[in-house]
Amino acid sequence: MAKISLIVNGKPTTADIDPRTLLVNFLRENLRLTGTHIGCDTSQCGACIVHLDGKAVKSCTMLAVMADGHEIETIEGLAADGAPLHPMQEAFREHHGLQCGFCTPGMIMTAIDMVRRKGYDLDECTIREELEGNLCRCTGYQNIVASIAAGATAMAKSRIA
Ligand code: FES
Ligand code: FES
Repeated sequence: MAKISLIVNGKPTTADIDPRTLLVNFLRENLRLTGTHIGCDTSQCGACIVHLDGKAVKSCTMLAVMADGHEIETIEGLAADGAPLHPMQEAFREHHGLQCGFCTPGMIMTAIDMVRRKGYDLDECTIREELEGNLCRCTGYQNIVASIAAGATAMAKSRIA
């Protein structure tokens, strides 16, 4: 077993885990943070994307022990229960950026990372290019692209980085 200490959604967390545990399984099974999804076994879909020290990572491609000493944010960390949604979540809701919702947590975590790296003024071409690591099997992407552009603008207005 391996002991890990990390911060998850602002909360210090320690655990004894099998060193072979993937980060996505640690989040879902040990911490019950099931908003992070598993949509493939080939590291292609992006449903498992979380932030590691503020940057988007596919949590199915790293071991939980690699997150030892780091800070993880999942979709659950964006807005507390009962609190207003994060502007990017709200934009997906308003612009119908989801159908079944399976890909949505990964899309939103990618979108926030995109805004941090590319700025608030995102054009369609940039958004589509940046979404290459996220697959949606039902929306056709048009509304996801619109949601991300609107979410970026809303983040600028609310001064959220
Ligand atoms: S579950 Fe991680 S990329 Fe598909
Ligand atoms: S909304 Fe269903 S997979 Fe994207």
